[in-house]
Amino acid sequence: MTSFASFAKWQYCLFCIFCRMVSIGDRLSAETGRDEIREAAVAIVRHANPFHPTFGRPPHTLAGRDEAMRRCRAAMSAGPDHPDYSMLLKGPRGSGKTVLLAAVRDMAEQNGLATVRVTAKPEPTFADALIEQVTSASDAERRRVSSAQISVLGSGAGVSFRAPESRELSVHTRMLDAMEHLADRAQRNGKGALITIDEFHNANIAALRDFAHALQDVAKIDGKPVMFVGAGLPSMEETALADQGMTFFQRIARTQLDPLSPEESAEALRAPIEAAGGTIGDEALTTAAAATSGYPFMVQLVGYHSWERCADPGGAITPDDVRAAIGAATGDMEVQVFAPMVRDLSDTDRLVLDAMSAFDLPEIKLSDVARAAGKTSNYLSVYIERLREAGVIDRPARGRVRFVHATMRDWLQRQRVERGAAVGGSGRPETTTTVKERIIATCRSNPEATHAAIAARVGTSPDYVGRVRRADSTSSREP
Ligand SMILES: Nc1ncnc2c1ncn2[C@@H]1O[C@H](COP(=O)(O)OP(=O)(O)OP(=O)(O)O)[C@@H](O)[C@H]1O
Ligand SMILES: [Mg+2]
Repeated sequence: MTSFASFAKWQYCLFCIFCRMVSIGDRLSAETGRDEIREAAVAIVRHANPFHPTFGRPPHTLAGRDEAMRRCRAAMSAGPDHPDYSMLLKGPRGSGKTVLLAAVRDMAEQNGLATVRVTAKPEPTFADALIEQVTSASDAERRRVSSAQISVLGSGAGVSFRAPESRELSVHTRMLDAMEHLADRAQRNGKGALITIDEFHNANIAALRDFAHALQDVAKIDGKPVMFVGAGLPSMEETALADQGMTFFQRIARTQLDPLSPEESAEALRAPIEAAGGTIGDEALTTAAAATSGYPFMVQLVGYHSWERCADPGGAITPDDVRAAIGAATGDMEVQVFAPMVRDLSDTDRLVLDAMSAFDLPEIKLSDVARAAGKTSNYLSVYIERLREAGVIDRPARGRVRFVHATMRDWLQRQRVERGAAVGGSGRPETTTTVKERIIATCRSNPEATHAAIAARVGTSPDYVGRVRRADSTSSREP
């Protein structure tokens, strides 16, 4: 668990000022008999909401990312030979990639590393932005080292290096040159440098290829201390990284930003509430944590609305406050997460989601989705995999799919009604039964039937019927 120390300190100071205002308000109201003064002070306290449901904004408590931070810390102190010295963070929208990158940069700066922060863009100008940032970080590093040398050796120390500015040189040459200067300075300062690239999936491929070559040259071949952490959507494996020139990035370490556990979600809710002077009971906390499904952005939304709903800032957040907050948070999720998520998808991806949304089940058989979509399971498998990589659905078991955000189904259903569309006709679609389920049903309704007779009816082998029958009678005998 990592707290953003300076932010927490600031928040704490603000809270102390507010508490002081309440206590002054109390005293004044006792002296003057005017309750409005206390109410005004309390109203200010109520607005010190410790949650930040804004993309890219660091949370008060960075829950569940200890292992990722530990790996980065280990790589930072071990140097270029560490397997995590170049790493990609992968996670769906709102899983906390940007804030984790920021936390890694904070850690690097605290350890004296020069840092470069870039957000990838699909345009070719991304290469220039990257070169510029790398050059300005190595310039800043030169100034830092020079001023340290001046104070030790007197003026004249510290030779100025400049990356070639001519746009006539190829991007490849300029990128390599800028990276080599940064690497030299990083090596000279004895601490190294860290480059972070956010929205990696969105990067211009040619620029990324040049960056990959330069990074490989300086960090892997020359062993100079330039660490790299990128972050992007899981789809980067099929987009940016599918390119042939991307072998370097294809081989580096990955960290998947998994959903927070119920305990981590509860901690991400409880800690900011308590740090801001509030409280929340066990029942309310458990309900709130469960509603987030471990999704960091939803943690911030549920926390934010719970705090806002709490009528008595001096009292605890109640289960009723939380229930109202979940409703508001779900509405925000629809607008801020589901709508943009679906907007980025292909028509067939959407067809799959529409087909899935027709089933009111926690998990759906792939064969049923295929039938509802009017396609074969085989045809849909590539789309299913893409939706899984994008963090929209997951596969809890072989041949089964489900929504990552359970509330997405209701939203899709409403969308379909609004569009006046229906997948697979109106009403509840039929679910198919597997051969195994048909064998069990036939055996139970006709216990005297032979394996061969059931096999003929269901269309399978007598051996298979025997195996399913034995497993079923064992499981039905178990208490
Ligand atoms: N580990 C965490 N614990 C608690 N809250 C978190 C955590 N990680 C992120 N958040 C919160 O979740 C929200 C989304 O975080 P962030 O912007 O980093 O997501 P992202 O993965 O970069 O999303 P996108 O792909 O859309 O850029 C923010 O409000 C942030 O404060
Ligand atoms: Mg982000």
